[in-house]
Amino acid sequence: MAERKNTDFDRPGGYAMPKGATQVQRRAAAALAEADIRLYGDIATPHEPPVLDDLRPTHHATGPDTRVYVGDCRDVLANLPDRGSVDLIFADPPFNWDVPYEEWNDGMARAAYERFTFEWLDGCIDALTPTGALWVNIPDDTAAEIVVHLKRRGLTMINWCVWHFRFGQNRNSSFIMSKVHALYFAKDPDARTWNPDAVLEQSDRASIYRDPRTMAKGENKGMRVPMDVWYGKYWGRIQGNNKERRHNHHNQIPEVYLERVILACSDEGDLVLDPFLGSGTTVTVARAWNRRSIGIEYSQGNAASAWERITDVGMLRKGASVGGSSAIFDKRSGA
Ligand SMILES: C[S@@+](CC[C@H](N)C(=O)[O-])C[C@H]1O[C@@H](n2cnc3c(N)ncnc32)[C@H](O)[C@@H]1O
Repeated sequence: MAERKNTDFDRPGGYAMPKGATQVQRRAAAALAEADIRLYGDIATPHEPPVLDDLRPTHHATGPDTRVYVGDCRDVLANLPDRGSVDLIFADPPFNWDVPYEEWNDGMARAAYERFTFEWLDGCIDALTPTGALWVNIPDDTAAEIVVHLKRRGLTMINWCVWHFRFGQNRNSSFIMSKVHALYFAKDPDARTWNPDAVLEQSDRASIYRDPRTMAKGENKGMRVPMDVWYGKYWGRIQGNNKERRHNHHNQIPEVYLERVILACSDEGDLVLDPFLGSGTTVTVARAWNRRSIGIEYSQGNAASAWERITDVGMLRKGASVGGSSAIFDKRSGA
C-alpha cells in the first residue's frame, strides 16, 4: 500500500510541516486563549503604570529613526506613542538570578518575578501591530511560564529555538548549562513578516558532502533555512577579549543572534523594539540593517553606554550570521 504523507512542503526544498499537527494546534490555540489558566505569578500584586504625558526619549537619532527611553519598560510601553505599530520585539529580560545590574533588583520573590514577567509581556503584546512578532530570550526556569502566558494571551508559537553556547560555567552538581531558549511567537502566524531567504546558511549536504544534487537545485543551491538550534563561531557568550564586548554589561548577546532574528522577521524601515536594552545589541543591529528602532532601559548609565555603542561603535560583524555552515562533523570515512 502506498504510504500516506501527512505533510505540507512550505517552499521548494523547504521543510515538511505535519498538516495534522498544525491544524490541531490552531484549534487548540483558540480554546487556550479562552480557558482560565492560572499561573503562580497571577497572585502577586499588580503594577499600575503611571500616565506619562511628557514621555520623551533620552537619546534620539534619525536616518533611520532610533530612540532610547530610560525607565521601567512596563511604564514606557504603556505610554509609548508607537503603541500598536511595532513590527518586531526582541526581549532579553533580567532572569532573577541576582545579577548585580546597575540599578535593577534581580532578586525578586518568585511570584513577584512572574507577575513582572507577565506585565512586560502584556506591554509588548499591546505595542505590536496585528502582524507583529515577539522573541523572548529566557533560560530553563521561566521558559514554561512564558510559553503558557503567551498562549493564554492568544499568540501562536512559531518556533522554540535554542541558543547553544559552549562556554558555560563549569559545575559538577548537574549537567553544565549551555543554552538559553529563544521563543518566537506571532500575533497572526499567517500574516507575520518572514524572510527565509535573508538568513540562509549552507546545508550539511553541501558543506560536508559537496553533494552535486543540492548544487544542481534551481534556486538557493546548497543553502537552507537555519535549524532551530543556534551555535557557531560567533555565537558564544560575549566575554573575555571578544571584540564585541562592552564592559560593565551583564549577559550581552552576540550580534549574529540579533541579526538572524531581525533579518528573518522584519523588513527595511520596520520598527523594532527591545524593552531590556542592556548594552544595546538589538538597536545597534537594527540600525545597521536600516530598521527604525526603540530601546528601553531602566538604568541611565546603561542607556548612555548603549547609546555610545549604537551611534559611535556600530555593528562589528555585519553579515556574519548569513551564508556560513553549522556542520558539526567532517565527512565520515568508513564505518
Ligand atoms: C539581560 S540584560 C539585556 C542584555 C542585552 N540583550 C544585551 O545584549 O546587552 C537586561 C537589561 O534590562 C535592564 N532592565 C531590568 N529591568 C528592567 C525594566 N523593568 N525595564 C527596563 N529595563 C530593565 C537591566 O538594567 C539590563 O541592562
